[in-house]
Amino acid sequence: MKVIVIGATSGIGRELVRQMAEAGYDVAATGRRVELLESLQAACDRRIVIQTMDVADTEAARGQFLDLIAQMGGVDIVVINAGIGEMTTRWEKEKQIMDINATGFAALANAAFHYFTKNNGGQIVGISSVAAERAGGLSPMYHATKAFISTYMEGLHYRARKKGLPITVTDIRPGFVKTPMTDQNDPKQMFWVASVEKATQQIVQAIEQKKRVAYITKRWALAARLMRWMPDFIYAKLA
Ligand SMILES: NC(=O)c1ccc[n+]([C@@H]2O[C@H](COP(=O)([O-])OP(=O)(O)OC[C@H]3O[C@@H](n4cnc5c(N)ncnc54)[C@H](OP(=O)(O)O)[C@@H]3O)[C@@H](O)[C@H]2O)c1
Repeated sequence: MKVIVIGATSGIGRELVRQMAEAGYDVAATGRRVELLESLQAACDRRIVIQTMDVADTEAARGQFLDLIAQMGGVDIVVINAGIGEMTTRWEKEKQIMDINATGFAALANAAFHYFTKNNGGQIVGISSVAAERAGGLSPMYHATKAFISTYMEGLHYRARKKGLPITVTDIRPGFVKTPMTDQNDPKQMFWVASVEKATQQIVQAIEQKKRVAYITKRWALAARLMRWMPDFIYAKLA
């Protein structure tokens, strides 16, 4: 099985490449930081393909994605993991979050959907977040982009079903995972923090089981349900 991981230089994406390569998948890894891609390739005994890519540069990224598929002789699973987050409402940063998490995500998910439509199907995996469940006051744009990702993937799932296409769409919604992204957070604002190894094991399992939606770690399914149903006057104190 051939897999492309978009955004694989650190954290969850990097660990996903490591675990999937170890499990025998043919893996390609992308990201902006070439030196980290090269060190990942070395750590995987040079068994993986690497490609620099900035998903915010959507036209270039879509071209590089198709070139990568040609180089690999096809692809079965595309994991779109690239994402940034920051607790801010500064417009310059919010626009960057929107460009990478939402526009960049859609550009690649759309390219993967059309590729799989023409080439006998496959699986699109998007790394969303429990933040998709409801808005958040600490980083309004991060929550909004994750809701976008989950809703877009749900739409691709329905479209594939309606047209009888053998395309699986898997929406991964992690809670807190210890990565460079969460290292910037105040530890007092986090709970149930999973190690990147454990979270990634559960992500691989969800991919292999072709889940429609998976919470990582599993107990976050309960927190997500609570978030969704909590009355506004209580949620407002937490969000
Ligand atoms: N950690 C958590 O608690 C948590 C919880 C829920 C969801 N998530 C989601 O999980 C995903 C991975 O996050 P992480 O925690 O592993 O963070 P991370 O260690 O900061 O990794 C983010 C990855 O995204 C890539 N990326 C960022 N901007 C990019 C761009 N413009 N083009 C291409 N790649 C880009 C980075 O590569 P380069 O910088 O080299 O480009 C890096 O490999 C994100 O989508 C995040 O929202 C994380």
